[in-house]
Amino acid sequence: MKLQQTLSNQIEQAFAVAGISGSPIVLQSPKDAKHGDFQINGVMGAAKKVGQNPRELAQKIADELNGKGAFAGAEVAGLGFVNLRLSPEFLAQQLSGSLNIEKTATPNTIVIDYSSPNLAKEMHVGHLRSSIIGDSISRVLEFLGHKVIRQNHVGDWGTQFGMLVAYLVEQQKDNAEFKLADLEQFYRNAKIRFDEDAAFADLAREYVVKLQSGDEAVLALWRQFVEISLQHAEEVYAKLGLKLQRADVAGESSYNADLHNVINELEAKGLAVDSDGAKVVFLDEFKNKEGEPAAFIVQKQGGGFLYATTDFACMRYRVGKLGGTRLLYVVDTRQDLHFKQLFTASRKAGWLPENVSAEFIGFGTMMSKDGKPFKTRSGDTVKLVDLLDEAVERATKLVRDKNPKLSDLDAVKIGETVGIGAVKYADLSKNRTSDYVFDWDNMLSFEGNTAPYLQYAYTRVQSVFKKVGDWNVQAALKLEQPLEQQLAVELLKFEDVLQSVAETSFPHYLANYLYQLATLFSRFYEACPILKAEGDVRDSRLKLAQLTGETLKMGLDLLGIDVLDVM
Ligand code: ARG
Repeated sequence: MKLQQTLSNQIEQAFAVAGISGSPIVLQSPKDAKHGDFQINGVMGAAKKVGQNPRELAQKIADELNGKGAFAGAEVAGLGFVNLRLSPEFLAQQLSGSLNIEKTATPNTIVIDYSSPNLAKEMHVGHLRSSIIGDSISRVLEFLGHKVIRQNHVGDWGTQFGMLVAYLVEQQKDNAEFKLADLEQFYRNAKIRFDEDAAFADLAREYVVKLQSGDEAVLALWRQFVEISLQHAEEVYAKLGLKLQRADVAGESSYNADLHNVINELEAKGLAVDSDGAKVVFLDEFKNKEGEPAAFIVQKQGGGFLYATTDFACMRYRVGKLGGTRLLYVVDTRQDLHFKQLFTASRKAGWLPENVSAEFIGFGTMMSKDGKPFKTRSGDTVKLVDLLDEAVERATKLVRDKNPKLSDLDAVKIGETVGIGAVKYADLSKNRTSDYVFDWDNMLSFEGNTAPYLQYAYTRVQSVFKKVGDWNVQAALKLEQPLEQQLAVELLKFEDVLQSVAETSFPHYLANYLYQLATLFSRFYEACPILKAEGDVRDSRLKLAQLTGETLKMGLDLLGIDVLDVM
């Protein structure tokens, strides 16, 4: 249910009676649950506008709400806040049945660009963040009933591919069985050959020209390279359990045919101009260090196209062909300016109409505990496959230590779910815009705001139902204890939280909500015996436990994290 909206509707009427209809209603959670379930902020501002005493106005509103509809209590606090307590009857009625999340009445077509690694190299930690965050956002949007089109904008084009193809040919010549196992190493070796051997460098350049002119033989080699590299990425995707499919791949190369049109149209519209032989879009909205309009280069001297050119073509495709009404780009914050320029120029070119929103969903850098960007000890980029394998290994050891009786098969299964869940949750539970510290011990802890804690909370709920025997699933909720009521309020907030994730693309709202829910459940579980209770109370508590389990499972699933029945 949309709890905030339901409550706001009632509060709006109280505002009208108090003579401030139309004032915004700001509902927040009070700092201390003792003070109530919600707090109205904003009466003070409204009082100022109409020249009334804030406390008196707040009192009018409180009198209007107290004991009516959803509210069991309404009290003035501070300089004009109104603390609200929801009535147990209202809570019970709203929670009857199941979770009941409504599909949106106004579905968007949302194109979400995430993961999008460069295929010349091994996927690195930056793409881990994009993959995890993008996947979760896409799940939430889809769940709420939007049409979601996932796009994996892989970097599969550019001069480095000439070098890589040349090196691939060389390796295969010496060894027909050659298998590309380590992309990172392969790239490094190719680069060394390129820097040290002039003949090799010439060949690489020749391949670039051939690729660009559509030479079938060289294209076939390029395709072979891209295929191997994509398989590497897919190995990571499989371990992460991403929703991304091969059909979602729309790499940079897929826009090649439109790049000339992009430049021509930008010129015809007076947006791109000549600057030292290059084609540049100058935008007043962005100033360079000298205070002049910053240059957005769309074509190099000599005619080469750039990342930006491709993104214009891609924009035209996502709006024109895919019919996107909301475009999300889940990319490292360091590309913020690129996307700002892209969006602004696209609006001017008419490729991004008024009614389509384009949103840069930036994220910070993954750091090590020593405060430096996450690297191997020797300073190399960490291969994602290795990182994920290590997560599973560590988690498997952990669950074995915790429960030595587990069979090998179970330990591995649980280790996988906990290990991958921990890596994902550590990322998703932080505000994505900040840098975050990757710390094995923290993320694998069974205490605190971690995946293992939440997964464990879920198994705890399941363990209740293993022992339950008969109970009345249809029973009405009887919410007498404060913790029963608080848990009920928390359960009812789920849809609002999903809505805010959908609007803001901040998955940590969902993560923090689930943590709060699990914490409340564990307090409820300590304070209110479930199986030992009797009759209506027992059924009611079971119902609360069941709803908590469902919410945890569904919420974690929307973060891309699996649950277990035992661990
Ligand atoms: N391949 C780029 C990188 O690794 C990210 C691409 C993001 N998407 C886009 N449409 N530019 O940095």
